[in-house]
Amino acid sequence: MHFDIFTLFPAMFAGPLDDSIVMRAREAGIISLALHNIRDYAEGKHAITDDYPYGGGGGMVMKPEPIFRAVESVLALAPRWADQPAAAPASQPIPIILLTPQGRRFDQSVALELADHPRIALICGRYEGVDERVRRHLCTDQISIGDFVLSGGELAAMLIVDAVTRLLPGALGAEQGAADDSHATGLLEYPHYTRPPDFRGWGAPEILLSGHHANVQRWRRQQALLRTAQRRPDMLETAWLTDADLAFLARLEQEPELAERYQAGL
Ligand code: ADE
Repeated sequence: MHFDIFTLFPAMFAGPLDDSIVMRAREAGIISLALHNIRDYAEGKHAITDDYPYGGGGGMVMKPEPIFRAVESVLALAPRWADQPAAAPASQPIPIILLTPQGRRFDQSVALELADHPRIALICGRYEGVDERVRRHLCTDQISIGDFVLSGGELAAMLIVDAVTRLLPGALGAEQGAADDSHATGLLEYPHYTRPPDFRGWGAPEILLSGHHANVQRWRRQQALLRTAQRRPDMLETAWLTDADLAFLARLEQEPELAERYQAGL
């Protein structure tokens, strides 16, 4: 999968994408990244990429020309003009995504949807905003990573690259999968323990040390249900639950001491 990232601050990307799982995925050829500096596509001696907003008000607005030029040239798109009919969405198969707090909310299902594409383009907005014509006539999608305002879309782009990469086959290594991750199952993930079995008097749950695979699986499922019920009950409305899950959740409601025991990991 190939990511084209359009930004005014490519140096921000050094570090987070050069380590750990994303870097290994790059080295293994599972993903590739290209950073495109929007300033390189600005005209004139000063390569201006922003300007004052029409109508006044504070802040600067990113100009449309350098962004259109950058995206059209990197993705080899024929420049479109207002007097041309809009192309059918299918004729532009590479999603062109503007990172903006006004976009649809990013979550695991959006990550899965993006992971299906062989190539995506991410445009990092900056300043007070991006000229509306970029949104309306260049982008095919707009994504927000949450209801808060960042200084720009760069951190959002890195986060999306990370979340999408770990879903790609081979990115997590053979033995490890993204299948149990929090949210991947529609539930928060169960707790993890490793050696030592006793740490400062705090033990690891006996059941995890028992070697009894079916019991471990059941314990993990119940812990995931308990955590989700306590921390994110909204997720239970859409999670795929078995009859056994529903019976367990009903018991948790009826027997608060059971929840306490489970919470202690017992
Ligand atoms: N740019 C600024 N804030 C953002 C957000 N919450 N999500 C995506 N891009 C952004």
